[in-house]
Amino acid sequence: MEGSRRDFIKTAAASTLAVTAMASTPGLLAEPLIINGFDKLQNDKGEFVLGPLPYTTDALEPYMDAETLNLHHTFHHGGAVKGLNNDMKKISEALEKNDLETVDYWVKKSAYHGSSHILHTIFWTNLKKGGGGQPKGELLKLIEKQYQSFDKFKGLISTVCNNVDGSGWGVVAYNPFTKQLNVIQCENHEKLIQWGAIPLLIIDVWEHAYYLKYKNRRPEFVSALFNIIDWDNVAMRLNYAMKSG
Ligand SMILES: [Fe+2]
Repeated sequence: MEGSRRDFIKTAAASTLAVTAMASTPGLLAEPLIINGFDKLQNDKGEFVLGPLPYTTDALEPYMDAETLNLHHTFHHGGAVKGLNNDMKKISEALEKNDLETVDYWVKKSAYHGSSHILHTIFWTNLKKGGGGQPKGELLKLIEKQYQSFDKFKGLISTVCNNVDGSGWGVVAYNPFTKQLNVIQCENHEKLIQWGAIPLLIIDVWEHAYYLKYKNRRPEFVSALFNIIDWDNVAMRLNYAMKSG
């Protein structure tokens, strides 16, 4: 079991890509979110852990309110981390008992919780106080090549986010197989993805991301997020993703 668990952790970590995103305010947090080039998902024992936010909970006001951000990080992201540890334990127990009756359930749960952990971890680092504007450099070039202009790209990802059926995410990823960006409309945490795509920019459109401030007005939340996107973080992720191809 330990081998397969280790493989799972390795795969999950690899899919999140390498980025060096420290706390956006130097000295604010002692612990970096990225260790050895990978988003920090687990501790040295291989247990999945909830990392700290890279800013204070009121840092993204007025676009993302402090109370929603606190609940989102603590209970929703935190719940996924707890769930993922439990899923892995249940699979391990089933193997020890030579009873695979329930493993389908736990494997599905681990995809759900594991994807939630990875996406939330990246999402926090994609945002910063004083963000917004538009990307530059290689990222802007790729966007303009594939989507004609930044404004059209922004319209595309906004529409994709606004139209997610139920709960899900808008994702901009880089796929080393095609050397292109992918715009992905992900349902729940793990559905409608493209294999090989390395996530660069994550937009959480579960209601828990905006319910206290925006109520049912998801498009308002998505529009507001463009004021706090850290395009430098997205560009850094692209840089690492392009090197992985
Ligand atoms: Fe979320």
